Amino acid sequence: MIVTIDGPAGSGKSTIAQEVARCLGITYLDTGAMYRAVTLLALERGCSLQDEDEVGEVALEMDLRFEAAEDSPSRVFVGARDITEAIRTPSVSQKVSLVAAHPTVRHVLTARQRALAEQGDMVLEGRDTGTVVCPRADLKVFLTASPMERARRRKMQLEAQGVEVSLRTLERELLLRDTHDSSRATAPLRKAKDALEVDTTSLTIAEVVERICTRARALGVSGTEGAGPC
Ligand code: DC
Repeated sequence: MIVTIDGPAGSGKSTIAQEVARCLGITYLDTGAMYRAVTLLALERGCSLQDEDEVGEVALEMDLRFEAAEDSPSRVFVGARDITEAIRTPSVSQKVSLVAAHPTVRHVLTARQRALAEQGDMVLEGRDTGTVVCPRADLKVFLTASPMERARRRKMQLEAQGVEVSLRTLERELLLRDTHDSSRATAPLRKAKDALEVDTTSLTIAEVVERICTRARALGVSGTEGAGPC
């Protein structure tokens, strides 16, 4: 079974997608981490992030892998280096939309995401997993939440990492990122026509997970038979 979960930053995607994967007993893939990894490496190499060829080259050469971790989401490695924390810093978060807008980067990462999804049952989380990466997924979900609630959630996440940012700044950054992600020419953030839309503003994580898992179980699909999910 392939489940895609898309939505804007702070809509609860990561927590919910991980929980849904755990509930259904299938693998979880954080596609945003892949765009973040390209951004981190490009910044470290001193690339101009506007330069599509240069950044595309970074994506193509990147030796990225996810490793399952106990009691936490999988860890992200480039070669032998663990970049799980490094890809979540504000400097990467502020630049990643620029990198994710390059068609060359998207082409390379979409191919890798499809190859991973072809290996077996999976929950993919991102912005275009239901529209572009796996348009034939068994279940597509689109999560939303009010901008204020999304900023509040991001603030709590950052505070847990010891980073203090005002709610107003975070809301502004989120809206800017939404605009970039929704207005780019290639694979913009968009709800798939047949996606189940869930507004998570006033729902608990458990309620959202339950809603998605109930729908998944009702579909009763297992395995990636036929023409394939992507
Ligand atoms: O979900 P996130 O905040 O980790 O995503 C990081 C960035 O990557 C965000 O700006 C949107 C982009 N992204 C994308 O364009 N397509 C995806 N499938 C996943 C993320």
